[in-house]
Amino acid sequence: MKLFRPLLAGLGALALGLTAHAAGGAKHAHAPEDGWKFAKVPAGKLDKDSVQRGFQVYKEVCASCHGMKLLSYRNLGEKGGPFYSSDYPNANDNPLVKAIAAEFEILDPNPDENGDPVYRPARPSDPFRSPYPNDQAAMAANGGAMPPDLSVITKARGHGNEGDGASYIYSLLTGYPDPEKIKTKPGEDGLNVNYLEFDKDETVGTLIQPTGLYYNPYFAGDTTPQWDGDPRHTPYGGFLAMAPQLPDGRVEYIDGTEATTSQMAKDVAQFLHWAGDPKQGQRKSLALPTMIYLVLLAILLWFSYKRIWRSVEH
Ligand code: HEC
Repeated sequence: MKLFRPLLAGLGALALGLTAHAAGGAKHAHAPEDGWKFAKVPAGKLDKDSVQRGFQVYKEVCASCHGMKLLSYRNLGEKGGPFYSSDYPNANDNPLVKAIAAEFEILDPNPDENGDPVYRPARPSDPFRSPYPNDQAAMAANGGAMPPDLSVITKARGHGNEGDGASYIYSLLTGYPDPEKIKTKPGEDGLNVNYLEFDKDETVGTLIQPTGLYYNPYFAGDTTPQWDGDPRHTPYGGFLAMAPQLPDGRVEYIDGTEATTSQMAKDVAQFLHWAGDPKQGQRKSLALPTMIYLVLLAILLWFSYKRIWRSVEH
């Protein structure tokens, strides 16, 4: 029995976890219509153009609030990275990567000889610039909510299947209700409140959007306190402190691709997927040679085994 106790505890925790999830209930995240190229079996590949566009979206939209401190500019030009070029096996020499880094002014970790802080353009070896000097400043600028670092967000929000994390980012960014559906009425204290009406299936009622927060069906949370309809049929999702970020045309893509909400969300999700594991391309490109090597080795071993035992009687 003693042996089983930890197992039982584990099963209990699992059951609790499952019921808790059922009560909260965010909508299940989904991939874009045409799926993720990198999750294709057997040999998925990152869509390099999409990762490049995704970096543009991160740089022009997300980077003002979200850091990615586990990444250095150099990573962008390494094998498998969006700006890799075989002419520059060492990404530190890649002029494009140098130019990208130099667009960001950072605080040098070393002060000048008088002890004063030195600001300078970033170099490929520098980590991505953080938008705020510390967490307090980040929260103060965002109504008390902390924009999480996005370096490994696709890992943190994934469930272990290839592409889960990217699907979550994609669903979250495209999942905000159409702004036209958000209505305003005077609240009890005379101040205006924003609300949404639901009339699908059994989910019928009004959902008040708390001030400074935004409803999103894919965000884990609980909408019960803001809901005036049947409490057994609350709308999916919750409220988060991030406003919708990607209205159509939010960026102008360098490569001319039309910047729809869905396209930008897909590209930035793909970029964040790559960023969560920048070496995956290198690893995947080693997979085939490794398999061939192992097969050849197995054949060789088989023949040497035969040869060695040739003259021994069984
Ligand atoms: C104006 C600031 C701002 C910008 C710009 C911004 N965000 Fe956010 N983001 C936030 C804040 C604040 C939160 C925390 C929300 C909360 O926890 O309520 C957040 C949360 C998130 C989360 C975490 C959601 C979760 O599951 O906890 C993701 C993912 C995210 N943002 C992605 C992005 C991406 C991608 C972009 C660019 C397209 C972006 N954000 C642009 C402020 C911003």
